[in-house]
Amino acid sequence: MKVRDCLVELQQSIPQNEAELLLIHILNQGQENLRLSRFHLLSESNREISNSDVQAVRNLALKRSQGIPLQHLTGVQFFGEHEYKVSSAVLIPRPETEILLREVLEAFEERSKPMRGLEVGLGSGILSIELLSHFPGLNMLATEVSENAIRVARENAEVILGKGYPASLDIIRVLDPNEVLEGVLSSAVPQFDFILSNPPYLKKSSQEVEKQVLDYEPSGALFPENGNPSHFYEKLACDSRRLLGPEGRLFLEVPHERSEEIVSFFQLKGWKTELRPDLSGRPRVLICR
Ligand SMILES: C[S@@+](CC[C@H](N)C(=O)[O-])C[C@H]1O[C@@H](n2cnc3c(N)ncnc32)[C@H](O)[C@@H]1O
Repeated sequence: MKVRDCLVELQQSIPQNEAELLLIHILNQGQENLRLSRFHLLSESNREISNSDVQAVRNLALKRSQGIPLQHLTGVQFFGEHEYKVSSAVLIPRPETEILLREVLEAFEERSKPMRGLEVGLGSGILSIELLSHFPGLNMLATEVSENAIRVARENAEVILGKGYPASLDIIRVLDPNEVLEGVLSSAVPQFDFILSNPPYLKKSSQEVEKQVLDYEPSGALFPENGNPSHFYEKLACDSRRLLGPEGRLFLEVPHERSEEIVSFFQLKGWKTELRPDLSGRPRVLICR
């Protein structure tokens, strides 16, 4: 079967861009050096695909049409400037989180480069690893409760930052999911230049969480364990000042529907706050100093 005909068939059950990504994934398997891009695929629409590859991509398209996330089928997601390995152990990197990354990058564009950063909730490692690859002198301390997520983050760090990554990325495994900064406060020397987090912030009863997210993404990445959707924000508002240097800032992804309520809490605790929008104009990142 030709590439063109295969894509036409797949598009009967899944969107065009997903059909292209699944076909590229299958054609790239076992090709370490000559990896096909979407651009090449489209310019090779007459290329013949082997029967086994056609069958393999049909199987993936069937799984996709049954709701399995595309990223669990391809095993990767692009974020910032790199491709990240993902699995069911980690939150699939979201495009909104690139706004959080951009805010941290821009904050240090005109100032001296950051030397020490702290991330709460490392997940697949996207934020800490992107920052480390951007700021060569930076050292990050990152906390994470899930051992399996830490494994994924370590694999990503090794591929993107190189085998020497532990010299700049220190990971603390948190044992109690309700702890936010307790472990860091008792072990780390303060004076971080920034703290950032995209914490679990959904309400357990929320009707708005899509079924695919509930079924396939780790519950610990979505919902705070104790059921209080603002748990991480409240703890960070109370405890993080002690860890920041005089010019230090806190960067947080926030749910747009509850952004004002979260801002009020930070202001009550004495922080100066700024909300930044995502591309659709909704408040998405809270910067506190
Ligand atoms: C919303 S995900 C964000 C992951 C990643 N930073 C990102 O932006 O894609 C939140 C992460 O926090 C982790 N987590 C949950 N409770 C935690 C805790 N008490 N301390 C540290 N990490 C925690 C979850 O396992 C999950 O990986």
